[in-house]
Parts: sequence; C-alpha cells; structure tokens
Amino acid sequence: ESKPHIIDLKSIGSPDLGYISVAQYQDNMPFEIKRVYWTYYTPNQVTRGHHAHKELHQCIFAVSGKIEFELINQQGKKTIFILDSPEKGLYIPPLHWRTINFSHSAVLLCLASEVYLKEDYIRDFDSFINNSK
Ligand code: TYD
Repeated sequence: ESKPHIIDLKSIGSPDLGYISVAQYQDNMPFEIKRVYWTYYTPNQVTRGHHAHKELHQCIFAVSGKIEFELINQQGKKTIFILDSPEKGLYIPPLHWRTINFSHSAVLLCLASEVYLKEDYIRDFDSFINNSK
C-alpha cells in the first residue's frame, strides 16, 4: 500500500522564457488519468474536502497560490502537506481523509484515476476511521 507523497516534476525552461511541467503516466504519474478538474476562487476562510475516496488515486497541484492539505489515514495518522509551487504534486492514494485550505489566489488542479462516481466518496469521518478497526 502506497503512502501520500510529493511528486517533484521537472520545470523545463528558464527565468527568461518561463516554464513547462509535464505529468505523464508511467513516467512520473503512478496511475492512468481519466479525469481532470480544477477549483478556483475558494474564499480564504473556507475549508473544503471533508471526505475520503474508496478507490480513487489523485495527484493534486497548486498551479497558482498556496494550498494546505491535512490528510488522515484509516489508522488516524495525520500528515500535513503544503503545495506552494506549480511543479510540486501531491499524490493521494485511496482511503485518505482530506481537509484543504487555500490562499486567496489558489488554483487547485487535480489529476484523477477514475471518472466521477459519487459512490466512491466516504463522507462520514467516524465510519472512515472505525471501519479499519
Ligand atoms: P466535491 O468533490 O464534494 O468537492 P469538495 O469536497 O472539495 O467540496 O465536489 C463538489 C461538487 O462538484 C459536488 O456537487 C460534485 C461536483 N463534482 C462533479 O460533478 N464532478 C467532479 O469530478 C467533481 C470532483 C465534483
């Protein structure tokens, strides 16, 4: 079972020209990408997330601004990740409860391994934790 971790992509370019970063299956992405979504204009005081996924693998980028992730695994272990650079991705395997906070200008880009399925969501924290005991 893999753990959440930061994937550092290459920044191809220079300060003069600007940069490009690439996420590509089997090169630097551990799953095939079936869906991409992004969130924006999230007010500073709003915390999003509050769910886990049963099967979904994700890699998440702050393409702009700064985003803080608090992840909790089914054993109750908490880890905090800060995304503050567009070439840094956060890989999140299935079964991690997340709460997310955003800086004013943050744009969150998510690469996801499955199409949207509302049945894949776990929205009750107690059943998320207790199911593993
Ligand atoms: P949700 O995943 O619940 O976001 P958050 O937990 O951060 O609030 O999604 C918010 C809404 O967007 C919800 O009504 C479902 C819809 N949605 C889709 O229709 N397709 C998608 O791929 C995603 C991610 C969300």
